[in-house]
Amino acid sequence: MVQFNLPKNSKIVTGKTWPKPEGATNVRKFQIYRWNPDDEKNPSVDTYFLDMDRCGPMVLDALIKIKNEIDPTLTFRRSCREGICGSCAMNIDGINTLACIYGLDEIKGDVRIFPLPHMSVVKDLIPDLTHFYAQHASIMPWLETKTNRPAKEWRQSIEDRKKLDGLYECVMCASCSTSCPSYWWNGDKYLGPAALLHAYRWIIDSRDEATGERLDELEDPFKLYRCHTIMNCAKTCPKGLNPAKAIAHIKKLMLERAH
Ligand code: SF4
Ligand code: FES
Repeated sequence: MVQFNLPKNSKIVTGKTWPKPEGATNVRKFQIYRWNPDDEKNPSVDTYFLDMDRCGPMVLDALIKIKNEIDPTLTFRRSCREGICGSCAMNIDGINTLACIYGLDEIKGDVRIFPLPHMSVVKDLIPDLTHFYAQHASIMPWLETKTNRPAKEWRQSIEDRKKLDGLYECVMCASCSTSCPSYWWNGDKYLGPAALLHAYRWIIDSRDEATGERLDELEDPFKLYRCHTIMNCAKTCPKGLNPAKAIAHIKKLMLERAH
């Protein structure tokens, strides 16, 4: 069940139903979560109808059409429109994913769109990612070196570079962390799948010289070990990555250095 951090003392109510497009024969219904921090109203689910013969194929196309042609107050993040920036992550038809690369034809029936679950909402479909980004920063997502800087560049063999495949592609969309029950209940202390995937990306980078310190930082009952291998992260990742596998590799490294 998807749950949300609702504003205090509030519940989700049925919101406004907008009129159907006149003369359209291929109409689809969209139900979209709305909440405005600047009014006293409860969050609501508003209903919109779109003429699908005049709409692009992706969920983001539909959201942009609604905003441009029906309701300019509808608020959501987006930038690249091609699954690169990670900003359009939301819960679509019960799945955390990127609106710009999720096809409307993948959804049966009405289209239901909510913000990423278990996050505070800034407005409508925009979750507050402040804590998520702070957790990412805490794993030192950069190359840490101690030896003198080489004249030209930090070299890496083809084999070592390959170890970063399946990790570097992460677009920090937060779909995985916000699909994880451990992160829902302990997100204040558990780093979550996204930050841990990035932690592993730097731990196994052959050029990095802070592996010990990185593992020391993660040796904590909450930061790392709250992963219970539920696997929602791998199931939902719109980039096809497997954060649970990265977390398992970190746990293995912890065991190896303990013996
Ligand atoms: S691992 Fe996948 S779901 Fe998680 S933040 Fe990265 S791209 Fe998004
Ligand atoms: S708009 Fe950039 S990932 Fe969707």
